[in-house]
Amino acid sequence: MKNNLLKLSLSSLAENVGIARMLIASVGAQLDLSLNDIEELKVAVSEAVSNAIIHGYGNNSDKLVYLTIEQNSETLKIIVRDEGCGIADVVQAMQPAFSTDPERMGLGFVFMQSFMDDLQVESVVNQGTTVTMIKRLDKIQPSTH
Ligand SMILES: Nc1ncnc2c1ncn2[C@@H]1O[C@H](COP(=O)(O)OP(=O)(O)O)[C@@H](O)[C@H]1O
Ligand SMILES: [Mg+2]
Repeated sequence: MKNNLLKLSLSSLAENVGIARMLIASVGAQLDLSLNDIEELKVAVSEAVSNAIIHGYGNNSDKLVYLTIEQNSETLKIIVRDEGCGIADVVQAMQPAFSTDPERMGLGFVFMQSFMDDLQVESVVNQGTTVTMIKRLDKIQPSTH
């Protein structure tokens, strides 16, 4: 399996969440992951990209979200970065059911955590947030389709 690197800058538009989902689904399919694994990658990516748009940029569509997908024989690494408002307390933000928006469920980070093998969130208030997620490929059973 060859190493692969994809980098995409997306306008902070809700429509682009679907593009990010399709992109990671294609990468997952090329790696011959199961439909279930692909579904989980799509959820993790869309949660991270949505957070950048909704929370990081407060739905201001003039900004950019930076998506990097980096794959080698052992890992699939997904980085979602924004230059938005940042998170004052990352530990609190990652708690299940914590949201700064009462209309939301506060489960985005929970999904990212449970569907990926590693999740790291780095954030600086007024500078932005970088979410790095890793899926280990060496322990995934190839799909049998
Ligand atoms: N990229 C981001 N920029 C700023 N704040 C964020 C970002 N991602 C997450 N947050 C903060 O972390 C909280 C929890 O995120 P999440 O678990 O996805 O729940 P939800 O999106 O439903 O609020 C959000 O309510 C928000 O306050
Ligand atoms: Mg969220």
